[in-house]
Amino acid sequence: ALLDTGPKPLAGRKAIVTSGPTHEPIDPVRYIANRSSGKQGHAIAAELARLGADVTLVSGPVTIPDPKGVVVIHVERAEEMRDAVLAALPADIAVMVAAVADWRVATAAGNKIKKKPGEAPPPLLLTENPDILKTVGHHAKRPKLVVGFAAETQNVAENGRSKLERKGADYILANDVSPHTGIMGGDRNTVKVIGKSGDEDWPEMDKQAVAERLGRLIASHFSG
Ligand code: CTP
Ligand code: CA
Repeated sequence: ALLDTGPKPLAGRKAIVTSGPTHEPIDPVRYIANRSSGKQGHAIAAELARLGADVTLVSGPVTIPDPKGVVVIHVERAEEMRDAVLAALPADIAVMVAAVADWRVATAAGNKIKKKPGEAPPPLLLTENPDILKTVGHHAKRPKLVVGFAAETQNVAENGRSKLERKGADYILANDVSPHTGIMGGDRNTVKVIGKSGDEDWPEMDKQAVAERLGRLIASHFSG
């Protein structure tokens, strides 16, 4: 649409959204990453902006375009993503959709690691990355509404609820990302919304529709 004239229930609200993967360098040419297209996080950022919010999108490396109408901060690594998110506080809403790499290489090599004939492959010593959602969920400047995702391949409801509690979120949108579901990289998503007062199963829909329904859920917390 050239001009969106719909209702703006999030006018005057600030939102921070993370999206995409992070890339954790092994050396200047190699990295560790999670699978993530950024489609779901970018759609949510665009939808919150359409509802009137002032949106900062912190995106890892993706091949999709920047959504219109949002401020986009491009980062590579989880620590950079964390720093960009914290620098964007205070905010009313945080939606952490990024597939953050859980581990990074403890000491990335400054030069390309070369194969050495007859030698074993180099060992990779990993260290844990900061948990951005957990940091925001327990922050002194915690946004009023904090939403996370939970990518699971089993025990979706149980694992999602334990993430809700551990990370201090108001909602977790949990999904089964087993290869047979086609969610990873695809355009459709089936989520279970886990809240403090119970779970709700949303039917399979496209990622745009998930963004719209989440936008309505978020807006309901700021009306009246
Ligand atoms: N998340 C984050 N920072 C991390 C890891 C995860 O902000 N370092 C956020 C994700 O953006 C998502 C939520 O936490 O909103 C859950 O991510 P997930 O990978 O499912 O959870 P983990 O706590 O990393 O647990 P695991 O990967 O072991 O299932
Ligand atoms: Ca993880």
